[in-house]
Amino acid sequence: MRLTYYGHSCFLLETGGRRILLDPFVSGNPLATGIDVNSLRCDYIFPTHGHSDHVGDLETVAQNNPEALIVGIWEIHAYYNAKGLRTHPMNKGGWWNFDFGRVKMVNAVHSSSFPDGSYAGEPVGFVFDTEEGCVYFAGDTALTLDMQLIPMTCPALDLAVLPIGSNFTMDYHDAVVASEYLHCQRIVGCHYDSFGFIKIDHTAAQAAFAEKGKELVLMNIGGSLEI
Ligand code: NI
Ligand code: MN
Repeated sequence: MRLTYYGHSCFLLETGGRRILLDPFVSGNPLATGIDVNSLRCDYIFPTHGHSDHVGDLETVAQNNPEALIVGIWEIHAYYNAKGLRTHPMNKGGWWNFDFGRVKMVNAVHSSSFPDGSYAGEPVGFVFDTEEGCVYFAGDTALTLDMQLIPMTCPALDLAVLPIGSNFTMDYHDAVVASEYLHCQRIVGCHYDSFGFIKIDHTAAQAAFAEKGKELVLMNIGGSLEI
């Protein structure tokens, strides 16, 4: 499976011949000016919550990819379904089998509302369990003991994508603890540097993981990683 970074918390996961886009937010990201949001092609869109830095380009991408299925918590499904987009509802704790593998919706500790003020349910994370590997996207979240449930209820993780920017989410110190809860060696950082509140020291962040025998990967925007 292949992971491509489009900045902030926006990733494309390619597995089983399918393209899965997470948290489409590109055009509002000053660091992602090299990415043309209209060039994004996907079969699925997984928004973790309703904040603009996670769904800012969702409708544009959905219009450009009319067959794409939006998978979100009930309230996010209802919001986009009412706009005529293709959706699949889930809620926390549940698994669903898609044509690329199965997905579990898991807890995240954060808030969630749409840019227009409407209720977006609660924030979530996703575990993707596929034939090519198992990956956890935490979404925006604080460190939470609930992360300990993931290795108890899911296959061993090959990779975890964790927010590390602090202020709005956990910082990289808490993300090191999260990686221990998750029994995961390889972490991809997200939700850092995009704007002033979340700028981090890359060297110090990677050293904090290395000290615990973990690897923190900070991807280049537009760059890809084989998992
Ligand atoms: Ni948020
Ligand atoms: Mn956010």
